[in-house]
Amino acid sequence: MALACLLVSAGCNSRADEEPAAPATTTTEAPATTAAADTAAPAADVEFASLTGDPAAGEKAFAVCTTCHSVEAGVNKTGPSLHGVVGREAGSIADYNYSDANKNSGITWTPEELFVYLADPQATIPGTKMIFPGLKDPQKRADVIAYLETQS
Ligand code: HEC
Repeated sequence: MALACLLVSAGCNSRADEEPAAPATTTTEAPATTAAADTAAPAADVEFASLTGDPAAGEKAFAVCTTCHSVEAGVNKTGPSLHGVVGREAGSIADYNYSDANKNSGITWTPEELFVYLADPQATIPGTKMIFPGLKDPQKRADVIAYLETQS
């Protein structure tokens, strides 16, 4: 008996109740791209600096933002006005009711920060009320940022 248990020990008392791996925590890991310390690019496959944004293409790509954002000064919709957003501190439109997460993020919306944020807003600012999955195409992000730079 005991011997049989040793031989097939996995089947005897060592049957740890391993949970059938819950598919919960598989998402957020940044694709560990390059080997080491060559760039400081935050978790993006493509570096912002290697892209040239096209404002005209960006205006078209911005269509997905317009349900919630205007680029007109003082016009807040579901989201705050994005007039002059490039270079502005996060959470700085006085009459817009930001989430604490956004307001206290400490981010200044440089093109580089926007590039990271727009890929996955909720990863950049956990708890943000911007419910938008992100623009996954780096070129589109660069285009939108180039467009936003013209709106100030
Ligand atoms: C479903 C609505 C929605 C969509 C679509 C959306 N946003 Fe937002 N956005 C928001 C909300 C709401 C906030 C405020 C977030 C908070 O306070 O947590 C926000 C905040 C922001 C901010 C921070 C502004 C600040 O003053 O701190 C930027 C930048 C931004 N959005 C850009 C974009 C861009 C660019 C797009 C399109 C690619 C987009 N958003 C799409 C709702 C949206």
